[in-house]
Amino acid sequence: MPPLKAENLPIFPPEVLAVSTNVQLFERAQQSIPGGVNSPVRAFRAVGGTPRFIARAEGPYMWDAEGQRYIDYIGSWGPMILGHGHPAVLEAVLAAAREGFSFGAPTEREVELAEAIIAQVPSIEQVRLVSSGTEAGMTAIRLARGATGRSKIIKFEGCYHGHADALLVKAGSGLATFGHPTSAGVPPEVVQHTLVLEYNNLEQIEAAFQAQGHEIACVMIEPIAGNMNFVRASVPFVKRIRELCDQYGALFVFDEVMTGFRVALGSAQSVYARALPGFAPDISVFGKVIGGGMPLAAFGSSRKIMQNLAPLGGVYQAGTLSGNPVATACGLATLREITKPGFFEGLSAKTQTLRQGLDEAAKAAGVAWSSDHEGGMFGFFFTDSLPQNYATVMATDKERFNRFFHAMLDRGVYLAPALYEAGFVSAAHSEADIAATVAAARESFASL
Ligand SMILES: Cc1ncc(COP(=O)(O)O)c(C=O)c1O
Repeated sequence: MPPLKAENLPIFPPEVLAVSTNVQLFERAQQSIPGGVNSPVRAFRAVGGTPRFIARAEGPYMWDAEGQRYIDYIGSWGPMILGHGHPAVLEAVLAAAREGFSFGAPTEREVELAEAIIAQVPSIEQVRLVSSGTEAGMTAIRLARGATGRSKIIKFEGCYHGHADALLVKAGSGLATFGHPTSAGVPPEVVQHTLVLEYNNLEQIEAAFQAQGHEIACVMIEPIAGNMNFVRASVPFVKRIRELCDQYGALFVFDEVMTGFRVALGSAQSVYARALPGFAPDISVFGKVIGGGMPLAAFGSSRKIMQNLAPLGGVYQAGTLSGNPVATACGLATLREITKPGFFEGLSAKTQTLRQGLDEAAKAAGVAWSSDHEGGMFGFFFTDSLPQNYATVMATDKERFNRFFHAMLDRGVYLAPALYEAGFVSAAHSEADIAATVAAARESFASL
């Protein structure tokens, strides 16, 4: 048997893979899996149609079960910053798998990954590795509550921090009222300490702190919100939250699960620190890129705050697969690649080229359009000016977005299947891929 190396792995040609259609697979999936999917957005409910069942992926491409190739701008919702199956990452994963899948005991690689994360993010001195962004976000809140001895938290409408009970909440009827659950199965009492405010609304955050600032454990934010497509928190908004947290003794939590190591090597907090010298959040949450496509996430803070965690402190957190040796190998190999000089400049330039091409195609077609990007993350809207909060994102032209999505999919370009999701470019996307995407967009705009 040949040694298990990337080049010896079987790559099935599409005709071998084309055993079932997407429709057949979706019908079959619905028999054994609720809604046929293991995460709701995959079901294409927002855009209609049949989800593509992916058979394999390589570089910037994915192939579905029917052998159709797509240029992939989802990248597993962010992690695949190097494209699929990067040779160095694949080798690292295979080598780690040979050494063992999981030990339930500490490994040197966990320490290396923790050090690699800390090296790029000056606001954190220690991190705890976990398995999903949901777990990381949920524990960050527990840590903030444990460290401050307070119960109340503030989040913003349109920001997603995972599906922990206390975070599945929408705004109450007034500023002073706490939220309502957005999911069945979440008792109202569980969200009674969660206050939901409008993103980028300075007056609301001001009033909330004035009313109950001394009871607030933390303010949690997606600094560039990728769960309402792509909406930046304005610099004055971030600055004021920082001031209010300091004034009232609350902690500022940056959820960088999506933006971490994706918009810049120093993550979104480094983008804000450029505008606000010395700026830093108190707790940061990471996922996606730090695992390179494997189940891995983390949260980090100062040594003082992190000392509250078990086994040192009273805030409990644990995980059978936390710091998994194969996942940490994948994350480390990914971070090694993206810390090479010029990586982010190159990625950002690619994303800029894509954005500019889409902007020009939309303009030529006379389509109302706006777009934004940072590093390897982008968003676009069928409206003339960039939305600043969830309500304005959801007021954009959904029917037009859905037609555009399907027109692009038919032309082999895989965008996120919902108007409130961000897009991701990888280092593997070539100039030709981007040119093909823009050409597909020109045709798609003409067909809207
Ligand atoms: C900003 C943000 N936080 C948290 C999460 C939850 O991460 P996971 O899906 O790994 O649980 C996500 C997932 O997309 C996210 O985008």
